[in-house]
Amino acid sequence: MYLLLSHSTLLALLYGVEFVLSQTAPSTIINASSLLPNSRTSVCDDIRVLVHYIRYFNRPTHNNNVGSIPRDYSPAGLSRLWDLIGPVEVPPITTTVIPQTPVTLPSPPPALYPAFFAVTPKDILPDLKFPQGFLFGVASAAYQVEGAVKDEGKGPSIWDWAGHQPGVVTDNSTADVVDLHYYLYKEDVARIAALGVNSHSFSISWARIFPFGASDSPVNQQGINHYADVIATHLQFNVTPVVTLFHWDVPLALNAYYGGFASPNIVDDFIHYAKTVFMAYNGSVHTWYTFNEPQVFCANVGVFPFNLSLPNGVNSSNAQFHCSYYLLKAHAGAVKAFREMNISGEIAFKSSDYVGMPWRANNTEDIDAVERHAAFGIGVFADPVYTSGDWPQILKDTLSPDYLPRLTEEDSKEILGTADFFAIDAYRTYWNAAPPEGIDACVSNSSDPLWPSCNVEVMFDFNTGWASGPASDPLTSWLQATPQFLRSSFKEYHRRWPAPRIYYSEFGFAQPFEGVRTPAELFQITEDTDRTNYYMTYLGELLLSIQEDGMPVEGAFAWAIMDNAEWNSGLSARFGIQYVNYSSPTLQRTYKRSAFALSDFFQTHLQKEVAI
Ligand code: GAL
Repeated sequence: MYLLLSHSTLLALLYGVEFVLSQTAPSTIINASSLLPNSRTSVCDDIRVLVHYIRYFNRPTHNNNVGSIPRDYSPAGLSRLWDLIGPVEVPPITTTVIPQTPVTLPSPPPALYPAFFAVTPKDILPDLKFPQGFLFGVASAAYQVEGAVKDEGKGPSIWDWAGHQPGVVTDNSTADVVDLHYYLYKEDVARIAALGVNSHSFSISWARIFPFGASDSPVNQQGINHYADVIATHLQFNVTPVVTLFHWDVPLALNAYYGGFASPNIVDDFIHYAKTVFMAYNGSVHTWYTFNEPQVFCANVGVFPFNLSLPNGVNSSNAQFHCSYYLLKAHAGAVKAFREMNISGEIAFKSSDYVGMPWRANNTEDIDAVERHAAFGIGVFADPVYTSGDWPQILKDTLSPDYLPRLTEEDSKEILGTADFFAIDAYRTYWNAAPPEGIDACVSNSSDPLWPSCNVEVMFDFNTGWASGPASDPLTSWLQATPQFLRSSFKEYHRRWPAPRIYYSEFGFAQPFEGVRTPAELFQITEDTDRTNYYMTYLGELLLSIQEDGMPVEGAFAWAIMDNAEWNSGLSARFGIQYVNYSSPTLQRTYKRSAFALSDFFQTHLQKEVAI
């Protein structure tokens, strides 16, 4: 079947073509319909496609280039940055809410299926337990849940900016208010504790700590105090805080001053921010991540120019790999500081993506495609840090030094070993196939739409045509539930990037069509069957991976704590285990079935302390 299809039909049929749209001159991509949501291929391609769309069809009205905004760290300078975004929505609540009554878990839902058809969460592999001290929790990210976008001295971030550009967020929602976790965190932490899970992985907003981002700019004490209380609240409720320094929300000022992560200047600014945060919360946080999913972030860096410009020497084609280089140096510098400052605890970054399987078994080109996918998706950051101190050979063979700056011996020494554990946001595992024109032809043609990774993700079995698993919401067409491949994936992560322990740092599912339901349909929203099945099947496989395969997994984090701003899908793609009623003045949260299932699963599989 494969060989009979034309290139374009094949690309249309196959999932996950890694378009590097920025490789293509604007004039050749002017078929706007191909840029609209139906042509999306993955979460990062979504963002790329849509931001590309604004760049060429809805150019921002401000005409500022990188370097054109002066470094004015006064209140007037801050206002000028906010003017780039325009008016933002004011939240309905403007102070921290202290819950008046303790949160208790409502009565659980009835069994989903008759017992002859499916077991309840408590009956899934009941003899297998998580290791002692296992972190079992929920995950969130500052931009996606906090809201209060302009409050208490915060500066704007690139995502605050992007969310206000027409066409970026499909449903035109912004994250200006969203869940208002910034003021409602006490209730949110109490609700996590009520579920009986024991941790929360969240991120700090760099622009709340340094509104102007830069190392010579003033720190915002309100931001420092805020997260101090957020962390203290977690500890008070026995919910372990796991902290990410950077979840894609670059202070807009740094993009304006020098082009953000496309510039070497970012390295020292990030390290300074990291040191400030380490110092402020040392002793209260044990597990730290420098960066969330750097590969996904850098794949999009070329489409977050400051208006239409990037720093000198960088263009939208090579920006991704310049970003990779500076980000890796920023990570290594932050970890070096962490160790030199004797910060207590452990630190690494969060990888994403998967090690796939050859679509056509024993086909050497597809076997190579698997390697290319793993190298471009995970190895790009994980090889230098965990194994070789250098970029994967596949990247060096494909990308000339003007695309991918080479790591010097000194760089390698600084980078290798800068992780205490391996963390992976592993949502799914698919097959990989070679491009229809062959890998060599693709690698030698930088205008091939699949270049430079030159592999195709396939979400259905070559032999049978059956999907790898049930589909999620149409807005997240990159995601199918694939529990049956979890164990083999974890074996591959551990074999390729060995570390003393692994955190399963994010996994989750967008229940189809949840985003189109109204608050009156709450009883249907809370019945999130596909999400519940996703979590229960993944967690069963995870237990087998730990107990049968010996994988040293010491934590698992469900994405997400509640519905939130899902990047360019806005409020329309829902990942929450709690529903948020965006029409209610208190932004009321309601547990969905999946929250109860996670709670039950953890209670049943928790290792009880053994009395001596
Ligand atoms: C992850 C990302 C999260 C969230 C999630 C669901 O890749 O870290 O911020 O968006 O995907 O799409």
